[in-house]
Amino acid sequence: MSSWEDLEALCSECVKCDLHKTRNNVVFGVGNRNAEVLFIGEGPGEKEDLKGEPFVGRAGAFLDDMLKIIGLSRKTNIYIANIVKCRPPNNRDPHNTEREACFDWLRAQIKLISPKIIVCLGRIAAFELISGEFKITSDHGKWYDIDGIKHMALFHPAALLRDPSKRPETFVDLKELERTIKSICENTL
Ligand code: URA
Repeated sequence: MSSWEDLEALCSECVKCDLHKTRNNVVFGVGNRNAEVLFIGEGPGEKEDLKGEPFVGRAGAFLDDMLKIIGLSRKTNIYIANIVKCRPPNNRDPHNTEREACFDWLRAQIKLISPKIIVCLGRIAAFELISGEFKITSDHGKWYDIDGIKHMALFHPAALLRDPSKRPETFVDLKELERTIKSICENTL
């Protein structure tokens, strides 16, 4: 297995799909590489592409606020990555070919982190990591055991900004996440 340093160096030069042609930076991931809880979003937007860090725009600030409610932070106890590591132009959904081309990087990150819990942020991460049948409106907040890792999806923070009526359900999901972290993680909360 490659080290974090090798993986990040290789990923920063990736040309496996056309997204490399328009990127400013590869957005590899951020946070604690020994985290027990891994959050996975969809792909970088404009601000993330410029800074090289996931979730640094408005949705990112909202995500940080959500995490804080249950004592989580990218600075201490979680890691955050995306399904695709380069920005899709005009913030369109990443194409299947791009998701497939990028998936090996995420798979390697998951292997290195070896998380107990994966939290998918939004429908695209849930579709790729939980099930092709996943419906975010009905399946958010439920647990799925996949390869010995507990998976759950939350509404994407950008969706919560667009539609505040979804926030109470997300609060319930966050409390469920907190409860499960307390019961199966040793070093997180
Ligand atoms: N939305 C995502 O899904 N990921 C980011 O990094 C930023 C916005």
